[in-house]
Amino acid sequence: MIRKCLFPAAGYGTRFLPATKSMPKEMMPVVNKPLIEYGVEEAIQAGLDSMCIVTGRGKYAIMDHFDKNYELEHQIQGTNKEELLVDIRDVMDQATFTFIRQREMKGLGHAILTGRELIGDEAFAVILADDLCVNPDQGVLAQMAALYKQFRCSIVAVQEVPKDETHKYGIISGEMIKDNIYRVDDMIEKPDPEQSPSNLAIIGRYILTPDIFKIIENTEPGKGGEIQITDALLRQAKTGCVLAYKFKGHRFDCGSVEGYIEATNYCYENLYKKNEKTVSLNQFSTFREKR
Ligand code: UTP
Repeated sequence: MIRKCLFPAAGYGTRFLPATKSMPKEMMPVVNKPLIEYGVEEAIQAGLDSMCIVTGRGKYAIMDHFDKNYELEHQIQGTNKEELLVDIRDVMDQATFTFIRQREMKGLGHAILTGRELIGDEAFAVILADDLCVNPDQGVLAQMAALYKQFRCSIVAVQEVPKDETHKYGIISGEMIKDNIYRVDDMIEKPDPEQSPSNLAIIGRYILTPDIFKIIENTEPGKGGEIQITDALLRQAKTGCVLAYKFKGHRFDCGSVEGYIEATNYCYENLYKKNEKTVSLNQFSTFREKR
């Protein structure tokens, strides 16, 4: 039902300087796979097949990654190194990739609005690739897509965070209507602990209904002078319905050095070492079955 996944990937990644001075944050490898490829695997697992990527200046490496590299592939053809390309060839076979550029970095809300041309008038998913989510049983986006089938409204993934970390996230409050599902009644971007309505923090997974575009268009810049998706979602919650879903699985904030190191250790121990030296999230990969 949901076919398209938007990847806002135009941000500067300043927390990871100098690594991100000329390299997109989304191309940082966790073990031997770039962050954005994990995101694409998660989207494919959820049944999506159209990847819409919002890029910016200096982000060519993302486009190149989801394309053939004839010279390299010819060079390693027939050697055991070809095995290392199995996952990326697999995702390229299972999805299409389209790109649009955000000319000015005016915030996540603005990046999502920039993707409108690629999404059109249908509900869609959003993955922030620097949040790496792992659940071997069912990916986080697949869990959310199943919920969308039932509720047909925008959904944000949330997790509990320590009170002194609320200033790093959009925080929601709302009534729990079912196990781990809340109907959102308030949402604040990066509140200080004293102002925070709860400790439920929005992480980088969303399902949005297309009316969000009109709402973002009419959303003024908020915290940090950026157009915040949180502000637009609050408007949507007040006039319609937005759900928050406390997902099952691990989430690593790979936009921070600590989260990135944790993700690397976790993926190395739990995926790479146990899984025939691959960090694939996509256990049902056609290539993997053939091996
Ligand atoms: P972040 O808040 O993590 O910002 O953006 P950032 O620039 O990537 O990283 P830091 O904080 O400077 O280290 C959340 C997501 O929104 C995208 C980013 O690429 C990231 O995936 N984004 C943000 C855009 O695409 N455009 C923007 O204008 C802002």
